[in-house]
Amino acid sequence: MARFLSILPLLAGALAHEHHGTSLFPRAAAVAPPTFGYHGLTGPLNWFNLNQTANEMCAKGTHQSPIDLSQSFLLADASSNPQISLSAAPHGAEFINLGTTVEVMGANGTLVKNGKTSKLAQFHFHSPSEHSINGVYYPLEVHFVFQADDASLSVVGFVIDIGGSSFEPLGTLAASLDEIPQHGNETITKPLDFARLERHFKKFGTYQYSGSLTTPPCSEGVAWTVSAKPIAVDMRSFNAFRDVLKFNARYTQNNPDGVNLLQNIADTLH
Ligand SMILES: *[C@@H]1O[C@H](CO)[C@@H](O)[C@H](O)[C@H]1NC(C)=O
Ligand SMILES: *[C@@H]1O[C@H](CO)[C@@H](O)[C@H](O)[C@H]1NC(C)=O
Ligand SMILES: *[C@@H]1O[C@H](CO)[C@@H](O)[C@H](O)[C@H]1NC(C)=O
Ligand SMILES: [Zn+2]
Repeated sequence: MARFLSILPLLAGALAHEHHGTSLFPRAAAVAPPTFGYHGLTGPLNWFNLNQTANEMCAKGTHQSPIDLSQSFLLADASSNPQISLSAAPHGAEFINLGTTVEVMGANGTLVKNGKTSKLAQFHFHSPSEHSINGVYYPLEVHFVFQADDASLSVVGFVIDIGGSSFEPLGTLAASLDEIPQHGNETITKPLDFARLERHFKKFGTYQYSGSLTTPPCSEGVAWTVSAKPIAVDMRSFNAFRDVLKFNARYTQNNPDGVNLLQNIADTLH
């Protein structure tokens, strides 16, 4: 925690979707242009060089995300899951295209993990999945970002496979994507319901580890919980997400406590 707080001053100025809308990065009045991307010199291999002060952890951190979730991170017994509660949004919620992802803001929810309560700040999507599970990647991943009063972040992730019918609210959100095709577009969704997602989360075990934001500044001390069982999105909805998100997944990082892969390359090139 101390380590996490010590980098807080560095967070200002970066529009990183992983913590957008949290107190670490309050939502700006207008959606600022993205300061990073997923290809070429703005992509993950070069995030450190975009700002070596702010993004130091991207190249030097040793608890980075995403990772391959192997059995060693699995808590198979669902009674070890944190408690999650996501409120229905009968009047819909704000849905924004940030250029680096699409994000729902203003929905209400809580997470209780290790006795600490955090509030839902936002949730957003990646295509393809950022985490793999036992080496297998999925077409999409959703990240529910929670923040506690002490400013610490917890993220609950679901990998998403293509199936016959979408878990709500995926289908409802997909139907709004044509209203936010470009960076800066915002809309209000139709009513959102999380009941099936919540039931799914409670029913299956989870992968848990301490990692980082998967976007610059790659800050560590983020408590990750990923449902062990994929949820589903129908093909048409998947296509809608993929076409708006394009490719927005960071590459798989080394296991926690292992050397940062970029640091390793820098060292061996000397
Ligand atoms: C790099 O990040 C630091 C710390 O957040 C900030 O003060 C500085 O303005 C940034 N530099 C550039 C060129 O954006
Ligand atoms: C979240 O809760 C606040 C306060 O009760 C309420 O004003 C807001 O409409 C809720 N958000 C949604 C998306 O329903
Ligand atoms: C999305 O934003 C662009 C650029 O600001 C604007 O030209 C376009 O009309 C917006 N599209 C929608 C559907 O609002
Ligand atoms: Zn994310």
